[in-house]
Amino acid sequence: MNVIVTESYEESCAAAAQMIADLVREKPACKLGLATGGTPVPIYRKLIEMNRAGTVDFARVRTVNLDEYCGIPADHPQSYRYFMDTNLFDHINIDKANTFVAAGMGDYQANAAQLERMVYEGGPADLQLLGIGNNGHIAFNEAGDTLHAKAHIEHLTDSTISANARFFEKKEDVPTMAITMGMGDILAARKVVLVATGPAKAEAIRGLVTGDTITPHNPSTLLKLHPDATVIIDRALAEAAGYGA
Ligand code: PGA
Repeated sequence: MNVIVTESYEESCAAAAQMIADLVREKPACKLGLATGGTPVPIYRKLIEMNRAGTVDFARVRTVNLDEYCGIPADHPQSYRYFMDTNLFDHINIDKANTFVAAGMGDYQANAAQLERMVYEGGPADLQLLGIGNNGHIAFNEAGDTLHAKAHIEHLTDSTISANARFFEKKEDVPTMAITMGMGDILAARKVVLVATGPAKAEAIRGLVTGDTITPHNPSTLLKLHPDATVIIDRALAEAAGYGA
């Protein structure tokens, strides 16, 4: 695993955006695995700037997102489809028909099965962007005794619901279930790039970047099995996580 320590979160986001832009330039019809949450917003902002400046072209890019909440429609402001449209897709020259976010309404099992197909359609992602939960989850693969390999329905932990409550009016409004890629789906990507910041992530990042333990109680640790995984953290988080200490 490659760990990059930057001087700031902004620098981390610039580095991640640069990796994505480099890939798109090298392979214009690439497939990107994308993530939602607070962390990637500045990454997407940088990609929008580059697209507007004409330095990166998304015309032939395909995307698949990691996950979606169950029970909220695509046009709900907290759906991940809405997030992707408003934070990225509406502002770049991508063909939205080539973007996939699992449906959060209807038959959840069928939606998960469709996500599983989309993960592999035309080959796995060339690059999968990831955030990390305070409990070490990646996508919505929650920490616990077992993990799933394939796309599935996940019951969200209290830690995740509390962390995501900031996006909703009240905690009770946060969906308690989500459709998510499984661990095997994430590990199938050719390249994985995880970005994290903030003291709440320190324990999860400690498990990921120090030692060689792999545990379902910190799902991110499975990334240690990936041949091309990069973790980008700022110095403050690296120090809090005991990296390089
Ligand atoms: P965040 O979420 O970027 O909003 O911190 C990350 C995650 O839960 O994977």
